[in-house]
Amino acid sequence: MKPIRWGILSTGHIAGIFAQGVQRSKTGVLAAVASRSLGPARAFAKKYRIPQAHASYGSLLKDPSVEAVYIAPPHPFHAKWAIRAAQAGKHILCEKPLTMDYPDAAKVVQAAQRHRVFLMEAFMYRPHPQTAKVVELIRKKAIGEVRMIQAAFCFDKLLDPRHRLFNRKLGGGGILDIGCYPVSMARLLAGAALGKPFVEPLEVKGTAVMGRRSRVDEMALASLKFPGDILAELSCASRADRGPSRVKIDGSAGTLAVPSPWFAAWDPGTSYLWLQKRGERKPRRIPVPCDRNLYTVEADAVALSIRKGQRECPAMSWADTLGNMKVLDLWRKSAGVFY
Ligand SMILES: NC(=O)c1ccc[n+]([C@@H]2O[C@H](COP(=O)([O-])OP(=O)(O)OC[C@H]3O[C@@H](n4cnc5c(N)ncnc54)[C@H](OP(=O)(O)O)[C@@H]3O)[C@@H](O)[C@H]2O)c1
Repeated sequence: MKPIRWGILSTGHIAGIFAQGVQRSKTGVLAAVASRSLGPARAFAKKYRIPQAHASYGSLLKDPSVEAVYIAPPHPFHAKWAIRAAQAGKHILCEKPLTMDYPDAAKVVQAAQRHRVFLMEAFMYRPHPQTAKVVELIRKKAIGEVRMIQAAFCFDKLLDPRHRLFNRKLGGGGILDIGCYPVSMARLLAGAALGKPFVEPLEVKGTAVMGRRSRVDEMALASLKFPGDILAELSCASRADRGPSRVKIDGSAGTLAVPSPWFAAWDPGTSYLWLQKRGERKPRRIPVPCDRNLYTVEADAVALSIRKGQRECPAMSWADTLGNMKVLDLWRKSAGVFY
């Protein structure tokens, strides 16, 4: 397969992690990077051995050596740059959340449709083999009929008003930044239980605690009711470590626990699931080996889709992203979180 020529928009934290993922991939090469000014672009290009450094995102979009862009500035800038990338005819992997809300996400999807480019929201856990294994076990009724799903993405970070997570103008707040993971997992697993790629909730109820200084949601909960009498209990927090960010699924015949649902083993290695069938004394450990880094798996999934001529990745389709954005809007509305 001819490797995909990647251009990276932004030189922040996750841009560096993704660059390493592409470096380790056989399906992609780093062709260019762009920053809002030349200095950081040059430094990033040197660090990750990228041939082209651009002093603006717009300049990278005109670079004929770039086939696909990875969009990784803070979320309020995703919509603008994803639409401009589509207009420039570049394939797109855009960081999550795709946009700040559903209406903007619909505009991005329309742009990808109109300009016939690939588009995927960068939920890196979705194309990972661990997620495929969880979905397979649920589909095969390894724990019987799914009844309740718990999904959490929580950590306790020192409040830093300069960090985008605590900055309203940069889309700060947990629901959009990390709550999007539990929502996407609950929709995926409820869908697997019902034999579908994903399913939308019938009800979304949420609550949140806003930081006094940050004025963004620092802790939030949501309860979702799905068809098939499936309930999901979701949590996200940037100021409370509720133990591991895990997923647990209770069914009529047992329980499946996913201790590292979002990052699996991160690097090549083995992650584990725990399956406890009703009546068994001990849970059974299910190893899930993966020979690639988490972000290499993501870059490979995009490359494979593009080379197959697909414009959506089966691991995170456009309809899936749009459904997720709708639920995030409902969670924020219910919890009183607005921008
Ligand atoms: N999938 C994942 O595992 C994962 C993990 C972390 C974050 N993310 C997502 O990736 C995005 C970026 O997160 P991050 O943690 O990498 O953020 P970050 O470290 O703060 O970096 C953001 C970068 O965006 C660029 N940028 C453009 N306009 C900006 C502005 N007005 N203010 C500040 N920076 C601006 C800057 O790069 P330049 O100066 O070079 O333009 C900056 O370095 C977020 O949407 C987040 O949700 C995903």
